[in-house]
Amino acid sequence: MSDTAPSRVHTQVGIVGAGPAGLLLGHLLHLAGIDSVVVEKHSRDYVIERVRAGVLEQGTVDIMVKAGLGDRLLRDGMRHGGIYLAFLGQRHRIDFEDLIGASITVYGQNEVVKDLIAARCATGRPLHFEASDVRVNGFEGTEPRIQFRADHEDLEITCDFIAGCDGFHGICRPSMPATSWHAYEREYPFGWLGILANAAPSSDELVYSLHERGFALFSMRSPSVTRLYLQCAPDESLDAWADDRIWDELSARLGTADGWLPNQGEILQKNVTGMRSFVAEPMRCGRLFLAGDAAHILPPTGAKGLNLAVADVVVLSRALEAFYRHHRRDLLDAYSDVCLRRVWRAQRFSWWMTSMLHRAPGGDGFDYRRQIAELDYVTSSRAAMTSLAENYVGLPMTQR
Ligand code: FAD
Ligand code: DHB
Repeated sequence: MSDTAPSRVHTQVGIVGAGPAGLLLGHLLHLAGIDSVVVEKHSRDYVIERVRAGVLEQGTVDIMVKAGLGDRLLRDGMRHGGIYLAFLGQRHRIDFEDLIGASITVYGQNEVVKDLIAARCATGRPLHFEASDVRVNGFEGTEPRIQFRADHEDLEITCDFIAGCDGFHGICRPSMPATSWHAYEREYPFGWLGILANAAPSSDELVYSLHERGFALFSMRSPSVTRLYLQCAPDESLDAWADDRIWDELSARLGTADGWLPNQGEILQKNVTGMRSFVAEPMRCGRLFLAGDAAHILPPTGAKGLNLAVADVVVLSRALEAFYRHHRRDLLDAYSDVCLRRVWRAQRFSWWMTSMLHRAPGGDGFDYRRQIAELDYVTSSRAAMTSLAENYVGLPMTQR
């Protein structure tokens, strides 16, 4: 902090975080004629290059397209009409198109963020990268403020509302008084080691595999880049994973009796992520609204995190539009309940997929056989396949 008074700017909605939630909210508000300022602690390159999600629900794609963000998504996104579940050396296809007439799109989160940043810049509305010492206050009263330092200057954004879109480790949720919200949480005793490899995908759809040695997932980013994940310990050190060991383990866990294996290539990136379920209730404190990972995170097996972030900001942007256009507060008051209904359904699905497909440390032959029986049922009963398809492709977006 410097001794000089901060520069003050007023906006309607102050948005903390330029991940998918914050950027999409800013864009939806722009389309509704509502002004916003976005404040992000990392650099533009860091935000764009962070490799994370890859699966977009049909509803997420529809929203992006409707918001005018579909050009590259429709050109480069890979539409998949199903996924494979693999166990006991066999791959079994769940055919979403046949079961429910819907599909998913594989399009990297970093591409989504790139599109959103380009759209934001084209509007000329403010987006501050590399903001330090970000603080939010005043939201329990009528004068919410975001204070931060950027470009060697102290800045204060006064606003009508704050959207806390700053992810799981952000400052918005911890700024809410401890008595105003409750955390519901589960930690899982494993993590994922993820790699990005310069190798053409050898399957045209994702493969989720349960193997005696643990879970593995085959995914992709483009016709020449494969994305793969291995179940590991939550605190696994990457030092123990030379490239050869990663490929051996992926081949052992994913390879099927018909000779299918992932193609190998130069490993471009490696990382380990822990896994937890977390929900903050309610997702609001006064004039501060949490959205996306700031309010909830899920184990990645259900591919739901980014999609939930999108669903939250759709609900929030509509509520803010109703407030500014028609002086209605009821949709803002319903925001948390509306979102939490979808959040808990996604938590249930992600927990279920995770428990079905991972080997718990200390788990025994009984657990493994029960999991195989579950996969056998899920891949042979049309009712069970339909349930998986509905949840994976995404439940309909509802306003109430
Ligand atoms: P984030 O993307 O975390 O964005 C928050 C932003 O806030 C960040 O840019 C951060 O730098 C910024 N920020 C943090 N603190 C501050 C601060 N103090 N001040 C200002 N800015 C701040 N989801 C899916 O839907 N499908 C998938 O296939 C999928 N796969 C995944 C695979 C992996 C390995 C992982 C880790 C996640 C996966 N997810 C998936 C989850 C998905 O990536 C997240 O749910 C998504 O990023 C949430 O978006 P967000 O905008 O809420 O949060
Ligand atoms: C990807 C990530 C997931 O969490 C998932 O369930 C499926 C695919 C991916 O990064 O491609």
